[in-house]
Parts: sequence; structure tokens; C-alpha cells
Amino acid sequence: METPLVRLSDEESETVYEPSEDSFLLIDALEADLNSIEVIMPGICLEIGSGSGVVITALAMALHDRFPSYFMACDINPHACKVTKRTSSTNSTKVDIIQMDLVTNLLPRNLFDIIVFNPPYVVTEPLEVFDERLISKTWAGGLEGRQVMERLFVHIPDLLSEKGIFYLLVIKENDPEYIIQNFRNLSMMGSIIAERKIRGEHLYVIKFVKNDGQL
Ligand SMILES: C[S@@+](CC[C@H](N)C(=O)[O-])C[C@H]1O[C@@H](n2cnc3c(N)ncnc32)[C@H](O)[C@@H]1O
Repeated sequence: METPLVRLSDEESETVYEPSEDSFLLIDALEADLNSIEVIMPGICLEIGSGSGVVITALAMALHDRFPSYFMACDINPHACKVTKRTSSTNSTKVDIIQMDLVTNLLPRNLFDIIVFNPPYVVTEPLEVFDERLISKTWAGGLEGRQVMERLFVHIPDLLSEKGIFYLLVIKENDPEYIIQNFRNLSMMGSIIAERKIRGEHLYVIKFVKNDGQL
């Protein structure tokens, strides 16, 4: 998969997450799993918390010539929404973006074939996730670093199509096995498809499908 060109002004860098090792591991994992993605011929792809838009744009660049797929992203940070839009058009793709808190405004109609999330995963004091500063939203994960991502989990089965795939970036402190168990209780199977140790962080990408799907 090609790495999209991303440009952030100094002012945008103050609140918008710059493409980092976690973003690139997620792109690498999507690239390695491109065969399974192609098999399901995704109609609608969604990235939650798109930041600069580097991940959803990379996916759009890889798929848009081959499938009539629709790409969508959301972020709680309005500046991230603007940058995601720009990154997609700079790289000649089309991504529609909505500013919202996680998936608040989406109907639970099993419409999405691919959902991708690189959440704020850093372990912090629980109250830090309520910090209003937009830059804190890029990393503050609260207890076990799971406070933000856990609000999403319960919605995934109702958003994903039957053949859909959910890709989640986490770190060791988030306890990937605990998260996989959580999804078992939601009738979904998960497995780690990529991992990388980098500058004191152990990053993982977990792939989830519904129980009757193919991991
Ligand atoms: C670790 S950054 C990842 C950015 C980008 N996806 C990447 O991989 O480079 C987390 C992103 O999630 C967004 N975010 C945090 N809390 C959110 C929420 N409640 N709803 C939507 N987006 C959120 C942040 O603004 C930030 O852009």
C-alpha cells in the first residue's frame, strides 16, 4: 500500500495527531491483510478517529480503483476532520468526514464492511479522558488505556456487516487478550495480526470478525 502524502501546518500540529509508528503499523497490517479485504469486496469503509487521515486515505488509495467502495471517517476534533478531508483529496481519493464522538450519529444497521480504529490508548488518570484540550484526545486513554475504546466496543456488532472486519490498534498495557475475550462476549472472534516494539511501546493490531466469519 502506498503511504499517502500528509501535510500539517504548525498550527494544525498543535491539535492533530501526526502520522506515527502506530499509524504505520496499522497501514502495514491492512496491507498484509489486503487479500481478506478484497475477498469481502468492501462497499463501505469507516475509520474512527482519523486524525490526519493517513490510514483511511491509504486504504482508499489501495481499493478505490478495484471496488466501488465508499470511504468515511469521523473524529471528535474539527481540525482533524479538515486535515483528513485535505489528505484524501491531496492523494486523489474521496473520503467523507463527520465530526462526532465515536459513532454517536451512525445508525446500527450493519452497513460497514471495514471499520478501523487507532484509539487514544495511553494509560492515564481516569479523569484525563475528559480533558477538553483536543491534543489530549489523541492519546489519553484513562484506566488501562481502554476508557475511550471500550465505549465503542458494544456498538461494533451492530455497525459491522455480516462479512465485516474490525481492525483495532492497541498497546500491551491495554491487555489485548482481555479485549479479545470482551469481543467473544459480543459473539466476535479476534486475533493479533501484527505487532511491533518501538520506543518503549509494544503495539498490536487485532482483527475481529463475527463468529461465522473467516479470521
Ligand atoms: C492515536 S490518534 C490516531 C489518528 C490516526 N487515526 C492515525 O492513526 O494516525 C486518535 C484519534 O482519535 C480521535 N478521537 C479521540 N477520541 C475520540 C472520540 N471520542 N470520537 C472520535 N474521535 C476521537 C483523536 O482526535 C485522534 O485523531
